[in-house]
Amino acid sequence: MRWTTSNIPDQTGRTAVVTGANTGLGYETARLLTEKGATVILACRDLAKARRAASRLGSPRARTLHLDLASPGSIRSAARELEGERVDLLINNAGGIRPRHAVTGEGFELTFATNHLGTFAFTGLMLERLLAVPGSRVVTVSSIGHRRGTMNFEDLHFERGYDYQKAYFQSKLANLLFSYELHRRLTEAEAATISVAAHPGNARTEFGRDMSPFVRLMMRPVMRPLTWWLMHDPEVGALAAVRAAVDPSVRGGEFYGPPGRSQFTGHPERIESSLASYDADAQRRLWAESERLTGVVFSSIPARPAPSAG
Ligand SMILES: NC(=O)c1ccc[n+]([C@@H]2O[C@H](COP(=O)([O-])OP(=O)(O)OC[C@H]3O[C@@H](n4cnc5c(N)ncnc54)[C@H](OP(=O)(O)O)[C@@H]3O)[C@@H](O)[C@H]2O)c1
Repeated sequence: MRWTTSNIPDQTGRTAVVTGANTGLGYETARLLTEKGATVILACRDLAKARRAASRLGSPRARTLHLDLASPGSIRSAARELEGERVDLLINNAGGIRPRHAVTGEGFELTFATNHLGTFAFTGLMLERLLAVPGSRVVTVSSIGHRRGTMNFEDLHFERGYDYQKAYFQSKLANLLFSYELHRRLTEAEAATISVAAHPGNARTEFGRDMSPFVRLMMRPVMRPLTWWLMHDPEVGALAAVRAAVDPSVRGGEFYGPPGRSQFTGHPERIESSLASYDADAQRRLWAESERLTGVVFSSIPARPAPSAG
């Protein structure tokens, strides 16, 4: 049976923080959750856009928060602003693809910094609030593109040459490695919070905004008669993250997205990710590197020593 909006349980009394909720999949996620009674905090890098999105939602339970995932200062102040708040769901949705090489103030490559490092740091700073809420979840949005991703630990920031696809696919593989390592640590700590991953398939959003005119054209709703087999509308794409966030049958460490061989379109089901994403050594290595680069340490869920080979 297709998992649809009618499967979303009542969310009254729950609070979700959705990153990048001013447009695209984040906006649809926020819309679906507010419609089911949740309070949703739209955590966005452009407050004016966030306020416009909140007013489009037309719900008294839609709030805004400034969060630029490429800025460690912004991440810390956003987390501080949420101090004392009950947070049931953190939906790590924000992300993008950048045709040209760019770096943050820290010198981190912008795709990796935004899509992975910022997400890692914000989750770490939100963890205490999540751990305090039984049934809380962290949902991290990856992509089918993760299958083409490899972790280039020797040159995570593409200082030896930038390839925008490699940078994006690496960041989306990193999202999964992070989600699964977070799951392992939460389980070992017997936490009441779970970590789940999702991917939206291909969805008509602003995702292609910095890409070629051809890609931008293909992503437009007007092209639906030609692209129906390749991409779906954001209302369907967002269901994967929403299911990961609210379906009572979901367990930590799982991955949700459109089914089938291509996984381009369709209503979300539990699926498997690439072999590379289940590599426990890569998960641990990325985690250690992310702690070092961001200075955020998840002290309440420390790693257990890795099983020795001998
Ligand atoms: N659409 C697809 O086909 C597709 C496929 C696979 C995976 N995904 C994933 O789905 C997620 C959402 O993408 P989308 O399709 O909805 O794209 P989108 O329409 O371009 O929305 C991306 C959102 O991320 C925000 N964002 C970008 N950089 C940020 C930063 N530094 N700090 C905070 N927020 C930031 C954007 O804010 P601004 O509006 O201010 O830029 C926007 O709200 C991404 O993680 C993407 O990788 C999308």
